[in-house]
Amino acid sequence: MNLYLAPPLEGITGHIYRNALHQCFDGFDKYFIPFISPNQKGHFSTREKKDVMPEHNQGMYAVPQILTNNVEDFLCTAQKLGDYGYKEVNLNLGCPSRTVVTKGRGAGFLDEPQKLDRFLDAVFEKCNLEISIKTRIGMEDPEEFETILPIYNKYPLKELIIHRVCRRSSIRTHQSLIHMHGQWNIANIRFAIMGGISVLWRTWNS
Ligand SMILES: Cc1cc2nc3c(=O)[nH]c(=O)nc-3n(C[C@H](O)[C@H](O)[C@H](O)COP(=O)(O)O)c2cc1C
Repeated sequence: MNLYLAPPLEGITGHIYRNALHQCFDGFDKYFIPFISPNQKGHFSTREKKDVMPEHNQGMYAVPQILTNNVEDFLCTAQKLGDYGYKEVNLNLGCPSRTVVTKGRGAGFLDEPQKLDRFLDAVFEKCNLEISIKTRIGMEDPEEFETILPIYNKYPLKELIIHRVCRRSSIRTHQSLIHMHGQWNIANIRFAIMGGISVLWRTWNS
């Protein structure tokens, strides 16, 4: 089964964009909402609140995304999103921004596989919503995916959305693809690819 996912682009695919996309080009199975970054007060920012309000996401399957490496922050945010009526949340393990990565969040979390494993163990045990993950295949090197994928394999992910490169995305796209291809067979999770689909298609069919 093919799924068509509308990606989140922070600062671009807010609720106004998403609704326009939905009304003019319906056909996406899911619309991802740009990440919510839980703050110390546990409140949504004005932008985040506007973006997740059910009345701003009517008629579409919208999935809010959470950017954190803290179990309690994830669970508390997921619970609030559940109260809004969401059935699924997406964990951001792909954001390459320096300010995010240096705090060990987004793609930065991939640098600490054991901590990530413990985090997933706790959130999958306690979270009532379905959880999908958007990930890069590593921080620095595509070979990191060989450590990361078996961790994902342990949990009942709704789906795994893979950005096909490492955080250092300027390098070795081709090598990244070959590594991903090699890992494909051991995955027992539903996969989706985000970004560079034409490159992927050409590489795998060449
Ligand atoms: C301006 C901008 C904002 C983005 N914001 C998010 C985000 O909030 N969450 C996320 O998972 N990905 C985010 N992304 C990544 C995109 O969703 C998408 O995966 C990526 O752009 C596709 O790869 P490509 O740009 O290499 O084709 C963002 C990308 C851009 C360019």
